[in-house]
Amino acid sequence: MTDQLGFSTRAVHAGFDPDPQTGAVNVPIYASSTFAQDGVGGLRGGFEYARTGNPTRTALEANLAALESGRHGRAFSSGMAATDCALRATLRPGDHLVIPDDAYGGTFRLIDKVFTQWGIEYSVAPVSDPDAVRNALRSNTKLVWVETPTNPLLNVGDIPALADVAHAGGAKLVVDNTFASPYLQQPLLLGADIVIHSTTKYLGGHSDVVGGALITDDPELDAAFAFLQNGAGAVPGPTDAFLTLRGIKTLAVRMDRHCDNAETIAEFLSGHPAVAEVIYPGLPQHPGNAVAQKQMRRFGGMISVRLRGGRDAALKFCSSTKLFTLAESLGGVESLIEHPGAMTHASTAGSALEVPEDLVRLSVGIEDISDLLADIENALL
Ligand SMILES: Cc1ncc(COP(=O)(O)O)c(C=O)c1O
Repeated sequence: MTDQLGFSTRAVHAGFDPDPQTGAVNVPIYASSTFAQDGVGGLRGGFEYARTGNPTRTALEANLAALESGRHGRAFSSGMAATDCALRATLRPGDHLVIPDDAYGGTFRLIDKVFTQWGIEYSVAPVSDPDAVRNALRSNTKLVWVETPTNPLLNVGDIPALADVAHAGGAKLVVDNTFASPYLQQPLLLGADIVIHSTTKYLGGHSDVVGGALITDDPELDAAFAFLQNGAGAVPGPTDAFLTLRGIKTLAVRMDRHCDNAETIAEFLSGHPAVAEVIYPGLPQHPGNAVAQKQMRRFGGMISVRLRGGRDAALKFCSSTKLFTLAESLGGVESLIEHPGAMTHASTAGSALEVPEDLVRLSVGIEDISDLLADIENALL
């Protein structure tokens, strides 16, 4: 039923109808690790043990699938747990995958330090160049893994073009949709096979819960995810599932405010003498602007800037803001600032994915824009 509804309606309603017995409009936090059976195998509501399934998590999973216009959703204890599951469900020793040349540091670290030990090979390619991705394919390539926009350089990948490249090479396309959120972009509708999220970010939206998700239309992939979700057990607890669902209900209104504020700040920074480059997909000079306009509703709340004064100026900016809190992570209601080279992307040092040392990443929150602008202006004095 919820498939036919608009995005904001799905965000509020999908996954749970008011409880028929009590009328509760929110899914309860089912703090139960096990479920009584009526005779051996006689499951009352389809639940037996909470690693396999828990009703609060089931509501979240149905909601996540509806948000991405997908058939199947699976929730995990973190974005990295979801990433790990997607990789193990789809790759075998001897297989190869292509990852962004500016992938999230944690994704790169997991593949580079762990999966290579189990016989998985990888190559890097810029997500903004489908030809380069095509050239990186090998006969044993099983996955093309992209983020769009990427973390932290905000490069934009043309999802339909990348899906064509992956499929022509016999590979599946995975899109990490964390930066856009399903409100701004729905990769399954554009040809992707798997969407992954760190729900810690915009979906949760309040910096109070860590989680991850995998969404697909393919029942075989979903069965493989479900097998590993239960078999390896990286599941969110019911309170985390509840908090994530609660955050999702306001995703659409939060995202519009994140976008409003980020657009104004990107514009302001573009004219600032201390700034060498503003990287924001909504700016006309961004090389991915046309593709972003095609596949995104708006351009998101993340901005990266390169400072004229190099690393020292970048570090000074990061420690001079008052409202923008110096912290890792992103996508919460509060504005955050960080130095990717020393923080979120430190694991890429010395690799092909190393980020520029003059780079600062802003996660623009939903505060009053006048206060955010004043904070940035003062910090850049
Ligand atoms: C794009 C992206 N993907 C995945 C992750 C991993 O998510 P988590 O921190 O929830 O494990 C992050 C975390 O920052 C991220 O930015």
